[in-house]
Amino acid sequence: MPADTLRPRLPSPLVPVHDDRFERHGVRLLLKRDDLIHPDLPGNKWRKLAPNLRAADGRPLLTFGGAYSNHLRATAAAGRLLSVPTVGVVRGDELADRPLNPSLAQCAADGMRLHFVSRTEYRRRADPAYLAELLPATPFPEAYVVPEGGSNALAAQGCTELGRELHGVTDVAAVACGTGGTLAGLAGGLAPGQRAIGVPVLKGGFLEHEVVRLQLAAFGARRGDWSLAEDFHCGGYARTTPELLAFATDFEARHGLPVERLYVAKLLYALVTLTARGAFPPGTRLTAVVTGRP
Ligand SMILES: Cc1ncc(COP(=O)(O)O)c(C=O)c1O
Repeated sequence: MPADTLRPRLPSPLVPVHDDRFERHGVRLLLKRDDLIHPDLPGNKWRKLAPNLRAADGRPLLTFGGAYSNHLRATAAAGRLLSVPTVGVVRGDELADRPLNPSLAQCAADGMRLHFVSRTEYRRRADPAYLAELLPATPFPEAYVVPEGGSNALAAQGCTELGRELHGVTDVAAVACGTGGTLAGLAGGLAPGQRAIGVPVLKGGFLEHEVVRLQLAAFGARRGDWSLAEDFHCGGYARTTPELLAFATDFEARHGLPVERLYVAKLLYALVTLTARGAFPPGTRLTAVVTGRP
């Protein structure tokens, strides 16, 4: 299996942290350091991509993302490391004529061929009829297609391992959500009596439906005890507030953890806020999954 030649650090470390904002409510905070799994495929990127790389079996990879997508970067890096060609379908044809931003420049440096499409076209990214038109128009008509964010049934199945690594050591496991694949798998892998919380970083309220859809595809049924904390997106994807940024800087100073701002900061902020509101009974072991690095 080619993905395993990349030597991930698994299980990822689970680290207790002392933080009075939790301790004063009797809550024990733990950090699940998935960001340390692999330098180029950190966090949920490894867990979601590895089963897809196995399924692709050496075929070129084609996937989708916005101009700052962590998933595009991780796919490009996987392609470089495994000598597999990659195509990134990027939202926004206006970007084609501009200098590449650092994220897309890294994708290109890793050998990813960037294919810019209009926002209207991008909306069809999951439509099989569109894929049937798109693939022959790329250099790799036989490519293995990984959906946006890397979230599909295999990805959710891959993330069950994250849940299993937490058996017996936590009561609640919380994760930031974009496309929902990580939460779908985490919740599916937890043991009875454990529960998962997802913190969506996008606005819109569509995620519940997506997580259910992914769980049906991965497991044939809704699985595990999970819920969403919807109020912590700070205005939507890639949006931040001065309060969130100050919170992240302070968290880094307190705990020496590099805090990724688009996902992980919103998760940690949500957990501090929910704890202050009394959402967790005293004695709760609360694990925050650190899904990425700045
Ligand atoms: C750092 C980080 N955390 C969390 C997520 C959310 O994962 P998912 O799309 O599976 O909900 C992403 C996006 O893939 C991410 O890049």
